[in-house]
Parts: sequence; structure tokens; C-alpha cells
Amino acid sequence: MHNPNNIHPVFDQIINKQQKEKLLKQRAKVLWFTGLSGSGKTTLGASVEKELFNRGFLTQILDGDNIRSGINRNLKFTEEDRVENIRRIAEVTKLFLNCGVIAINCFISPTKESRDMAKSIIGKEHLIEVFVSTPIEICEQRDTKGLYAKARSGELKNFTGISSPFEIPKNPDIIVNTNELTLKESTQKILDFLLKKITY
Ligand code: ADX
Repeated sequence: MHNPNNIHPVFDQIINKQQKEKLLKQRAKVLWFTGLSGSGKTTLGASVEKELFNRGFLTQILDGDNIRSGINRNLKFTEEDRVENIRRIAEVTKLFLNCGVIAINCFISPTKESRDMAKSIIGKEHLIEVFVSTPIEICEQRDTKGLYAKARSGELKNFTGISSPFEIPKNPDIIVNTNELTLKESTQKILDFLLKKITY
């Protein structure tokens, strides 16, 4: 471990978030989707991004499968590695936020501990928590990636909802059940909440 006394971060000489928000004519926020694998986080995130883009907002999607094949490729699905996964993601998200960009994060983020950590790194006031509450039976029926079948057969260990916990968020800002709403309706529900917060 390095000695933190030898690290000198500089933030005050950098053009600040407010100046960048002014340039982009938007207010930066983090839309954080949490929910089971197959619940619809990424589909919904992509749909919201498209709508925001069409309205002139600058966004960035961060998503589990992509981040885990790049910056977090050395992490597994133990509880410890999932916390480290979310910690690094939250730090990267903070960079986007301070750059004035609207971040759209799609991660299972299964534990209260990991979600609380993300909020404390990013700042609670900047983060909008969206719980994609699609029930496990539906996610398993969909099984778009074939992972539930592998988890049931024991081929895949520590799988969220089967052999690893998912703690239901207690006070999310928005709840969407993609089994009850169409993609268009879920997207609209999120836009209704979000647009007034990001409009400059
Ligand atoms: S998190 O729990 O650490 O937040 P993250 O969102 O980054 O998870 O990654 C989840 C994605 O990894 C899933 O959508 C799935 O495609 C894949 N995956 C592979 N193994 C597992 C597993 N054991 N549990 C959950 N997801 C897994």
C-alpha cells in the first residue's frame, strides 16, 4: 500500500462542475439502476439515454457487463469483490458527474452496504436510485443470458437471487417493474422524475 501522505490531489485549479454544467446547459445527476440480473436495467438505461440524447442532454451509460470486461476485469462475484466493483464504479461516476455529464449506471448493486457506499462517494443528493423490481421468477423465465440455468445447475456460483443475496432497497426514488409496465411507460416514469432535475 502506498503512503497517502505522498499523494497530493489538486481540485481547486480545475474548472469546476458548475462551469461545466453551464457549458453543457444541463444539471449533472446520477441515475443508478439496481435490480436482479435480467430485470431490465440495461434496456431501460439505454432507452432513457436515447430520450435524453434526443432532448440534447449529454449522458454516459456505465453497465455491469462492460465495466467487468474492462476496468474491473480482475473482480469476481464474491461479496468482497462486488463491493470493490461498486466502489470503483462510484469513483468513476464521480468524475463524470463533476464533468457535468448525466451518468446512467446499471449494476445489480445487491447490498445496502454497496449502495450506501456509492451514495457516500458520489454524494447522496446527486444520486437518483431506481429499483428495477421485476420479480426473480420473471427474470429467470427471461434468462436472456442463460445464467439462471447455469446457476440452478450449480455451474455458476454466487449468482444473485439464487446463491447470493439481493437486498431490496428500502427507499428508492423510483420503482419500476418491467413486467407490469411497457418499456415506453417505464422510460416515461423515469423521465417524469428526472427531467426537472437536469434541466438548466
Ligand atoms: S454487482 O453485483 O457487482 O453489482 P454487476 O452489475 O457488476 O454486479 O454485474 C452483473 C452482471 O454480471 C450480470 O448482469 C451478469 O451478466 C453477469 N454475471 C456473471 N456472473 C454473475 C453472478 N454470479 N451473479 C450476478 N451476475 C453475474
